[in-house]
Amino acid sequence: MDGNGRWAKQKGLIRAVGHENGTKSVRQTVEAAAELGIENLTLYAFSTENWNRPKLEVDTLMRLLVSSLKKEIKTLHDNNIKLKAIGNLETLPKKVLKELREVIESTKNNNRTTLTLALSYGSRAEILNVVKEISVKVKNNIISAENIDESIINEHLYTRNLPDVDLLIRTSGEQRISNFLLWQIAYAELFFTKVLWPDFTKQHFCDAIIEYQNRERRFGKTSEQIS
Ligand code: FPP
Repeated sequence: MDGNGRWAKQKGLIRAVGHENGTKSVRQTVEAAAELGIENLTLYAFSTENWNRPKLEVDTLMRLLVSSLKKEIKTLHDNNIKLKAIGNLETLPKKVLKELREVIESTKNNNRTTLTLALSYGSRAEILNVVKEISVKVKNNIISAENIDESIINEHLYTRNLPDVDLLIRTSGEQRISNFLLWQIAYAELFFTKVLWPDFTKQHFCDAIIEYQNRERRFGKTSEQIS
């Protein structure tokens, strides 16, 4: 969800207003995903690197998270959406963590779409964590080194209950991954749009899905093998 800052700057507004308007695009996208019956939507809301932003901006984002969680719980229930979160959640302010846990608990039986917020998330940190956890298990003879395979790695990622990513959308014209789900996007289709996140609407989301549907996913095979 990139481009909140630039959106605000273009309008002569402070960055916080960009983030505030970004929450409207969050709602539109989440509703569209539920309407389309998309089982999983993961939003990169705050990276480990985002902690290095000015304190005022970090505080604004945390405040927006708390207010959005409070405000949108009804939207989540109305659309049968289950909330989850991935990342180094313990580093979040207590208020955010409390609200997040409450909404996760309250929506745990919803089953149309799972909305996962990546918060204080960094893919390298996630992978590092996996390596450490598996190493300890090998040391304690819970896993043997020869048996380590992709499924064991999957089971130790924050995303252990989520499938691999099919489609990754990045807004604002940037064409990079920025430490997001590096293992999980191995075969994802990448979609880059110049639209700034606060301008991103349901229609833009549908356009991305239509483009995705027209891609041929070969997973290393030939076109003939797929058809
Ligand atoms: C990137 O734009 C956006 C973020 C770092 C934060 C995303 C947060 C929201 C959309 C609002 C709260 C989220 C939820 C889930 C309710 P940027 O600030 O890097 O923009 P720039 O690249 O133009 O400076």
